[in-house]
Amino acid sequence: MKITKAIFKCSSERISQVPKDSLHDVAFIGRSNVGKSSLINMLTQHGGLAKVSSTPGKTRLINHFLINDAWYLVDLPGYGYARTSKQLRGSFAKIITDYIFKCEKMHFLFVLVDIRLEPQKIDREFISLLGENGVPFGIIFTKADKLSAAQRKASIARYEAYLKEEWEELPPRFVSSSEKQVGRDEILDFIDTCLKTGAE
Ligand code: GTP
Ligand code: MG
Repeated sequence: MKITKAIFKCSSERISQVPKDSLHDVAFIGRSNVGKSSLINMLTQHGGLAKVSSTPGKTRLINHFLINDAWYLVDLPGYGYARTSKQLRGSFAKIITDYIFKCEKMHFLFVLVDIRLEPQKIDREFISLLGENGVPFGIIFTKADKLSAAQRKASIARYEAYLKEEWEELPPRFVSSSEKQVGRDEILDFIDTCLKTGAE
């Protein structure tokens, strides 16, 4: 898929505010600072579209970006960010669970994980929750530029070993680097198929 047009549509504090049209959402989620907003900018080739910051917790709202006038790319708040009130810190913020479980626009979810880290407790909890609720999702390993090819391979194998403990069939997986523009074609082609065929 080629992205010819990418525009910011709106930021929502709650799901009653998301766009009311019938276009599908493809959303990105993961721990704060994992690189969600950077990936959205890389995929759309639009440097300043989603706000990037080295301070975790930058994205607090549900941000909709309209792509090719046909579907939405959605930047979700990061989870696991502790410098907020106790209520927000709770395992997953209500804004996230409402969106993922109740929003009918939500068509496919990419869970981003830092390729350097072993499976983190909060990601495992989140992925289990998706499984229990039958939410269609894939995994994107981010910041691949931070590891050598051999380290990447080892890290992905470690992650797949964990996934195999939980899943008979592994979810689709992608390797990305927003810094080095890696993974763009694979992710966009997958989204293309996913939007055409419907989520599995
Ligand atoms: P929140 O909105 O706070 O949840 O963070 P986020 O997941 O949107 O992360 P963001 O895209 O803002 O990136 C966080 C930091 O990681 C920034 O300093 C980015 O420059 C850096 N970063 C993101 N992607 C990459 C990557 O592929 N490679 C490298 N080396 N750094 C990256
Ligand atoms: Mg962000």
